[in-house]
Amino acid sequence: MKEFKYAAVKEEFEKWKELGLSLNIARGKPSLEQLELSRDLFTALDFDDCIDNGVDARNYGELAGMPSARAYWAELLDVTPEQCFVGGSSSLNMMYDLIAKAWSNGLLHSEAPWSQQKGIQFLCPVPGYDRHFRITESFGIEMIPVRMLDSGPDMDEVERLAAGPKVKGIWCVPKYSNPDGHIYSDETIRRFAALKPAAPDFVVVWDNAYCVHEIRGDYVPFPDILKLCAQAGSPDMVVEFASSSKITFPGAGMSVLAASKANIDYLCGLADAQMISGDKVNQLRQVRFLKDKAHTLNMMKRHADALRPRFDAFLTELDEEIKPLGIASWTNPSGGYFISMYTQPGCARRTVELCREAGLVLTGAGAAYPYGKDPQDSHIRIAPSFPPLKDVELAAKVFCTCLKLATLEKEG
Ligand SMILES: Cc1ncc(COP(=O)(O)O)c(C=O)c1O
Repeated sequence: MKEFKYAAVKEEFEKWKELGLSLNIARGKPSLEQLELSRDLFTALDFDDCIDNGVDARNYGELAGMPSARAYWAELLDVTPEQCFVGGSSSLNMMYDLIAKAWSNGLLHSEAPWSQQKGIQFLCPVPGYDRHFRITESFGIEMIPVRMLDSGPDMDEVERLAAGPKVKGIWCVPKYSNPDGHIYSDETIRRFAALKPAAPDFVVVWDNAYCVHEIRGDYVPFPDILKLCAQAGSPDMVVEFASSSKITFPGAGMSVLAASKANIDYLCGLADAQMISGDKVNQLRQVRFLKDKAHTLNMMKRHADALRPRFDAFLTELDEEIKPLGIASWTNPSGGYFISMYTQPGCARRTVELCREAGLVLTGAGAAYPYGKDPQDSHIRIAPSFPPLKDVELAAKVFCTCLKLATLEKEG
């Protein structure tokens, strides 16, 4: 460990600056090695091999998606094919679309479109996924932060707030949450299923983006929230999402919306005014390549082999350089794409600023909070997945220097 005195740390910082580095650990993108795993996707489908279960992928039809793609996602998410609507390449787009449909038409149990109701609110577990928050913000929906615990969102708070009739839903990333990497506990999931919100059209957006994305250890089976909600008498309260963005190619995979049959029918009714059918050729191509859950999980092990050394490199540096100083804490996730860093209050923004000066781009401090406002100014999201390993190692060193300097500046 290096000396923790202002002059020494400042000197170290100036040395990094002189190197003119250009490093970026801002967004959770797969590395080139991971993209390489899907090379055969380009040759997975042939013109003469596009009819599947009697459905021609090359032509209009099947609004809810290619039957084999619906069956694929049903197996992955432990639901039924009838509960799956397979869409385009982005699950985030489908989430936006769900809120847009709530806004323009209302959801299945809405008394009126959300646009006609005043003062609508949404629960936002924090820290959370910045793009979720941008969706609600773009509709002018008021966001109410709810603290994330190791077990998932603070359910006492969720239950208390959901009793408010203006509260229309909650953003959830139940497995390897973005950015903490927590898995919701069985108790949290049970309490979600048993939730009795005041609003009849309250929606639990269950963004299962990291459903098969272990970094360490074996696949962790995860309860099917749709079944649990149905058993608890609220089959239509949850809408689940996932995609193959981080299984094959981000922005060029296939996405799924899973919900009760009644919700699928309702949403298909609305989507019927929007399009004739989605890109079934891509859906079929993805299914031909990914095959089934067992094959996908095997592939995810190879993704993990690329991700693990990057996470380990960053975490080792933090353990060596920061842990003995006791000036920050961080998560050590078993899956997903992020490490959450918690600095001393008032140091996150400055750390990110110093990193930028030294040539290391991070996600903006506060990005994981509604309106970009972290009241403690303490959280930084670290995404070590994309750069080559040696760049991640360097980024970790630069980060540690900047974190130390920001802390020393604050201490005066
Ligand atoms: C929680 C979460 N949901 C959704 C997405 C984006 O998914 P897609 O590429 O399917 O739009 C991401 C990407 O980082 C994410 O972290």
